Amino acid sequence: MNIGGKHYRSIWPDEKDPSLIWIIDQRKLPFAFEIMSLKSTDDICFSITSMAVRGAPLIGVTAAWGIALSAVEHAGAKEPLREIRKDAIRLKATRPTAVNLAWAVDRMMAVLERQESSADLPAIAHKAAAALCEEEVESCRRTGENGLPLLEELSRKKNGGTVNILTHCNAGWLATIDYGTALAPIYLAHDKGIRVHVWVDETRPRNQGARLTAFELANHGVPFTLIPDNTGGHLMQRGMVDIVILGCDRATINGDVANKIGTYLKALAAHDNNIPFYSVFPVSSFDPSLESMSDIPVEERDPGEVTFMEGKGANGITIVQICPDNTPVVNFGFDVTPARLITGLITNRGICRPERKEIESLLLQ
Ligand code: MRU
Repeated sequence: MNIGGKHYRSIWPDEKDPSLIWIIDQRKLPFAFEIMSLKSTDDICFSITSMAVRGAPLIGVTAAWGIALSAVEHAGAKEPLREIRKDAIRLKATRPTAVNLAWAVDRMMAVLERQESSADLPAIAHKAAAALCEEEVESCRRTGENGLPLLEELSRKKNGGTVNILTHCNAGWLATIDYGTALAPIYLAHDKGIRVHVWVDETRPRNQGARLTAFELANHGVPFTLIPDNTGGHLMQRGMVDIVILGCDRATINGDVANKIGTYLKALAAHDNNIPFYSVFPVSSFDPSLESMSDIPVEERDPGEVTFMEGKGANGITIVQICPDNTPVVNFGFDVTPARLITGLITNRGICRPERKEIESLLLQ
C-alpha cells in the first residue's frame, strides 16, 4: 500500500542482510509511523505477543520469517534442526487463535525436515519464507478480486448509489502484508469508481478499527465513519448498512468463523435485519481438523488492555485508566460466529457457502 507515495508492505526481509526482518510497528499507529527491525526468534516472538504485528495472515508470515531467523541463529549448532524445532514450538505458542501461525510454522518445518543435510538450512529457510510470503500476498489480492462482484452488484441494485459496508477490527493490508482481506474488495471497488462508504467499528479494547482501519482508509481516500462497537445494530435497523464484510482468524470445516471479539454480535444483528454477512480470508485460515466451533482456542489477553486506554494527549501518547482501581476484568480477544449466521466465505479460491461440502471442494482445488 502507498504511504506518502512510497509502497509499503507490513513486513519485509532486508535486501542485503538475511538475518534482518523489517516491520511497521502497528502499536504506534496511527500517531507514529515507525519501522522496527527483527533480528532473532526472540524478536519475532515479541513482535507477535506485543501485537507490533497482528492479523492472521501477517502473524503466519512473521512466524515463517521467525523460522528463517532461527536457521541463521543456529547455523553453527551441532544439531541445527533440533534447535530450530524448539524455536518452532516457541513461535507457535505466541498467540492461540489465528491458525495461520501453526500453518506457516508447519509449512516451514516440513521444508527443513526434508533436507538431507543441515548445511544450507539458512538459505533454504529464507527462500521458503519468501515463497510463503508471496503466496499469502497473492491469496489476499485474489480475495479482493473475488469479493468485488458482490459490491458491484449492490452498487447496481442502488443505481450507482453509495454502498454502505460495515467492518470490524482491521483486516486490511496492515493485517495481511499487502492488499488486505475484508478491505481488499473495498479498495478495488473504490479504485474502480464505485461509490462506497465504510462504517468502521472502533473495536475495543485495542481499537484496531479506530487506529488501523481508519488510518488505512483515510490514507487511501475511501470514505468512512468511525462508530462505537455497539452502534452497528442500530444502523442496520435503519437500513444504513448494505453488507457486513470482515476477516477471520480460524474457520472450521463446517464454516464457523473465529474473528475479533464482537464479530458474533454483528452477525446476530445482520441476521435479524437480513443483511448479507461475509467473512474474507485466504484458505490458510481454514482449520480442516476442527469440526466444532467450541474446539477453536480463544485467546484471553491482559485485563490492562480493558482498564487502560492509549491515545494522543497534549503531551504526546498518553495512557489513562478508564475504571475504578482493582476493577475485575475478563478480556477475550476473539469470538466464534456459527455458520448459520454467515452468508458466505470469500476466499482466494472463490466464494462458498459456510457448509462442509462446499468448503471441502474449495480446499481440493
Ligand atoms: O488481535 P488481532 O488484531 O490480531 O485480530 C485480528 C483480527 O481479528 C482480524 O480480523 C483477522 O486476523 C483477519 S486479518 C486479515
